[in-house]
Amino acid sequence: MKFIVKIATVFLLIGLVSCNTEPLTTSVASPNSTIKVDVDVNDKGKPFYQVAFNGKTVVTPSFLGFDFKNVEALNDNFKIVKTTTNTFNETWQMPWGEQLDVVNNYNELKVELEETSEEKRKLNVVFKVYDDGIGFRYEFPEQSNLKEVFITEENTEFNLTEDYKTFWIPGDWDIYEHLYSTTKLSEIDTENYKVNSALAQTSIPNKAVNTPVTMVGKDGLHLSFHEAALVDYSGMTLGVDTEKLSLKSILVGSDNQDYKVKQAVPFNTPWRTIQITDNAPDLIESNLIVNLNEPNKLGDVSWFTPMKYTGVWWEMHLGKSSWDYGMEQVDGQWKDTGKAHGRHGATTENVKRFIDFSAKNNIKGVLVEGWNTGWERWIGFEDREGVFDFVTPYPDYDLNEVTRYAKEKGVEIIMHHETSAATQTYEKQQDTAYALMQKYGMHAVKSGYVGKIIPKGEYHHGQYMVNQYNNAAIKAAKYQVAVNAHEPIKATGLRRTYPNIISREGLRGQEFNAWSPDGGNPPEHLPIVAFTRMLAGPIDFTPGIFDIKFDKYKKNNQVNTTLAQQLALYVVIYSPVQMAADLVEHYEANPKPLQFIKDVGVDWEKTKVLNGEVGDYVTIARKERNTENWFVGSITDENAREITIDFDFLDDNGTYSATIYKDAKDAHWNDNPTALDIETQTITKDSKLTLRLAEGGGVAISLQKQ
Ligand code: NOJ
Ligand code: CA
Repeated sequence: MKFIVKIATVFLLIGLVSCNTEPLTTSVASPNSTIKVDVDVNDKGKPFYQVAFNGKTVVTPSFLGFDFKNVEALNDNFKIVKTTTNTFNETWQMPWGEQLDVVNNYNELKVELEETSEEKRKLNVVFKVYDDGIGFRYEFPEQSNLKEVFITEENTEFNLTEDYKTFWIPGDWDIYEHLYSTTKLSEIDTENYKVNSALAQTSIPNKAVNTPVTMVGKDGLHLSFHEAALVDYSGMTLGVDTEKLSLKSILVGSDNQDYKVKQAVPFNTPWRTIQITDNAPDLIESNLIVNLNEPNKLGDVSWFTPMKYTGVWWEMHLGKSSWDYGMEQVDGQWKDTGKAHGRHGATTENVKRFIDFSAKNNIKGVLVEGWNTGWERWIGFEDREGVFDFVTPYPDYDLNEVTRYAKEKGVEIIMHHETSAATQTYEKQQDTAYALMQKYGMHAVKSGYVGKIIPKGEYHHGQYMVNQYNNAAIKAAKYQVAVNAHEPIKATGLRRTYPNIISREGLRGQEFNAWSPDGGNPPEHLPIVAFTRMLAGPIDFTPGIFDIKFDKYKKNNQVNTTLAQQLALYVVIYSPVQMAADLVEHYEANPKPLQFIKDVGVDWEKTKVLNGEVGDYVTIARKERNTENWFVGSITDENAREITIDFDFLDDNGTYSATIYKDAKDAHWNDNPTALDIETQTITKDSKLTLRLAEGGGVAISLQKQ
């Protein structure tokens, strides 16, 4: 019997990887056949693909190819010499994540192209077609007439069929920290996004957008364009042809070279991805981006555990304290010349306050910014190389004592490395800096890349920086350090391969509410982010501001949500490190809502997106790993609305004690943001609840299994 089963398994396996080379196959459908891709070359030998969803064309014939600096372009004169198909189905586990088990099931088509000219250069295109979208990439196979390429442009097109409602940010080469625009595809215009000198130098080739860019069609079709596994290549922006309703890749360049990507052949490009669904919630549930990345190369990363954290952070953004101490550089050395202004935030004493608070409130981490020398010259200076070091604390910060005290209280200090985009200074010090962390038992670093990149002429999203970010993470892993980068390259699912890449910024985070002259993030910001930026991967948004108006510190700034929404964000926005961002005194004054932050999970067994519309609202339920507890978060834009939550996702026969943190009747993000009602109810699988979310409001529910 056993033997028969074994034989059957072998046949099954052969079936799974069965290859088909004759005759040429140029079509491939997703496992459930909803998505179909066709690939071919036209009469000029130009390779193209097209995509249909439920029998309807969503990408019309769109060309593929490259321009090079050194050699002739690879755009036409191709013939298909071979095709291979493959079926793949596996379930892999995330060491931490939105869910434990991830199904990775796709059909693959590899198309091998060869030039019809003398040179006979070769280029392969591989399509992986899933039920929730497609990914395709170029593979440059080893060949005698192409040893190295200097790519001046990648010519990947996405020709669309409808003037979609589009949620986009401009194709800035340095920063994703822009407000989203919602326009028709034909009305995309990046002119209004001027260089934001506070952030970084910006290059936005005409009408290009950054990814993920999400589109909604009249019949409910949802598309989101992005990329996966961005390794040793430049980030891709998408140029928009507003007349033809088409997108075309525009790679991020450099002012120092007349090419955008340099690569030795053989190599593969990142995956170009389209998530395709017939409703908004499925976009968030899609695992396409992580699935297209290679499996874990680090093995056991249990030295990093997902955690909530507090920190010496918001107080600097509010202006209550400062990052710098007031030192001066004398002969290249930082000296305490007695001019300290006395407002330095990262003092041993202040950090101990955060440690005590965290220990008391089931929060495992404390981030300390402004602990090291150099902050006096970190921003607005041309010459930032050699300014920061990542091992020397200011005189009022005792690293030994702080880490000893933290350990005693069961808390972990999160390191901070603001590089001020002085990449060579950071690169040189990485080994020493990560070794210091290892010595003190610190397993997570928040890094930052504020300012124009040095070397001058490079951009945050070009190949040079893609390698900087990736290499930093790979090096950090050797010291058991996990990385949460700010001013990062976009997330492309590399957390699957390197699970020490835990979170990142890469959007307008909470900090903008503290100081942005444009009034901060409007209430629609996060209901857009959930369906755009969040599709790329975890976000270090830093929620949990209770003192919404903070008039004591800034009269002209505020958070533009209700308090209930700040709580809901712990469930809606996914990150394995989730900050409780407000000041200790603001939490201590509000013990009731603080209870939610204390209880809420940060690592999930399951995620269910219960409802939502891009830019309007979204409701997400997540089950905590290693407990039976569920949490629900729902947020809305500037419009109040009623939502009904059907609890049929709960376990059979389970009875839950639900604590519901909801907007009070008269709550409003601007007029009455902190009006919160807290209720307790018994909930089972058969329960349904209708709740009203205020303008800019939300609801957070913690469900503890009885
Ligand atoms: C920008 C980051 O986004 C912010 O979180 C940090 O506090 C500052 N840079 C200083 O590094
Ligand atoms: Ca930032």
